[in-house]
This record gives sequence, structure tokens and C-alpha cells, in this order.
Amino acid sequence: MTAQPLTIGVLGAGRVGTAVARQAVRAGHTVKIATGRPAEDIRLLTEVIVPGAAAVDRQQLRGSDLLIVAVPLHKYRSIDTSVLQDHVVIDTMNYWAPVDGLMDEFDGSRSTSEVIAEFFGDVRLVKTLNHIGYGDLEVDSHPAGAPNRRALGVASDDADAKELVAGFIDSLGYDAVDAGPLAAGRAFENGTEIFAGRHTAEQMRALLAQECERVFADA
Ligand SMILES: NC(=O)c1ccc[n+]([C@@H]2O[C@H](COP(=O)([O-])OP(=O)(O)OC[C@H]3O[C@@H](n4cnc5c(N)ncnc54)[C@H](OP(=O)(O)O)[C@@H]3O)[C@@H](O)[C@H]2O)c1
Repeated sequence: MTAQPLTIGVLGAGRVGTAVARQAVRAGHTVKIATGRPAEDIRLLTEVIVPGAAAVDRQQLRGSDLLIVAVPLHKYRSIDTSVLQDHVVIDTMNYWAPVDGLMDEFDGSRSTSEVIAEFFGDVRLVKTLNHIGYGDLEVDSHPAGAPNRRALGVASDDADAKELVAGFIDSLGYDAVDAGPLAAGRAFENGTEIFAGRHTAEQMRALLAQECERVFADA
């Protein structure tokens, strides 16, 4: 592991939440996981699927070095945002109308994470981990320096938060590529080439430059 061990709080114990939590445990981090329900409801699931992580009530995620929101986007308004205040938060969520239904606020004119940042309030939001399938997180993970190591884009308006998250991404087994501000997160949302494939850091930088030109030309 390259970064120092962190305390990671994961909100959402579905496909993405448990997959990220498993990788984080493997990387040596302390991991807590919660949903909107009492901890007791996910204790068994956590023991079986994420051994080494602790099932907690959502308020017990507070104080973590890093929080990860892995909740279906159409449920974002049901998230207890008091848990997130003053924290560095990773937004893994994607908008996909066939699953989420039509949501006017996600009309493509802004990154979904910009909309989420407004709703969350006083959080230091970082967009990443949305463009890797939950089933790929373990198999595509490689130590730093491995040839053709997969890269993930990291977008945020907060430079320190982005640096913390980049170290975390590295510890999970991926090169973190700075994608720029949160608005640039559109470059790796659903429907983009980055979203659809696996890329090395070099390929990711080239694609980000290309996609950002398109995204900011649209703005
Ligand atoms: N599937 C992928 O490969 C993938 C990859 C990257 C990103 N994503 C994105 O990640 C997000 C989550 O996807 P998923 O496939 O992990 O969903 P999922 O399997 O349906 O799991 C969602 C989890 O969120 C919890 N939840 C729902 N509402 C909540 C609330 N208000 N507060 C706290 N927890 C709540 C659910 O708990 P309950 O049982 O209580 O409802 C469940 O544990 C989506 O936006 C998706 O687009 C998906």
C-alpha cells in the first residue's frame, strides 16, 4: 500500500459499496459501512461479503478520513446529508435514465456531481470510481508501477481533497489521473469513451483532454 492507512466510511452496501469496501480492507484501511437502515440490518451481509469491515449506523461514519457515497442516483434526495458535512466525500454515482427514471436536474448541461455537490452542502466532493464496474475493481487492481496499470480519473474543485483521494485510489490498485475541476467530471460520465473502457494513465490523459474540450465547448 502506498498511502497511509485511512478510516474509510462507505454509505451504501450494494454492488459498488461492498466492492470498494473490500478493496479498501485489502489495502489496509479501516472500513466502516452503512446504509439508511440500522447497522443490524447489514451486519451479516458485511461479515460475509466484506470481512474485516464494520457495519455501523450511518452517523458513525462521521469522523472518517474519507466518505464514499454508493447509492443509486435516483435516491440521492433520501441521503442523510448531515452524515457528510465537513468531510471529503467521493461521489461514485451515475445517471442512467432507464434505471433512474427521467430526472430534469441531470440534463447533461452540468456534471451530475455538480448537482450532487449543491445538494450535499458543506462537503469537499470528489468524483471518481464511477467509471469502473464493481466486478472489475478487484481483477483490474495492480500494484503501483505495474505495466499497463489501469487509471481512474479524479475530479474536484478542492485540490487537497483530490490529493487525498488520489492516494486512496492508488492504494486500491489504480493510477489516479487529475481530471481537473468537478465540472470536468462530465468527461468520464455515462456515454463517454472513458466510461466505456479500460485505460492507462497516458491514455486517460489524452482522452480527458479530448473530452474536456468537448465538455467545455458545450458549456
Ligand atoms: N454497478 C456498477 O458497476 C457501478 C459502478 C460504478 C458506479 N456505479 C454507481 O454507483 C451507484 C450505486 O450503484 P450500486 O450498483 O452499488 O447500487 P445497489 O447495488 O442498488 O446498492 C445501493 C445501496 O445503497 C443503499 N441506499 C439506498 N438509499 C440509501 C440512502 N438514502 N442512504 C444510505 N444508503 C442508501 C441501499 O441500501 P437499502 O438496501 O437500504 O436500499 C444499497 O445498500 C449508482 O449510482 C451507480 O450508477 C455503479
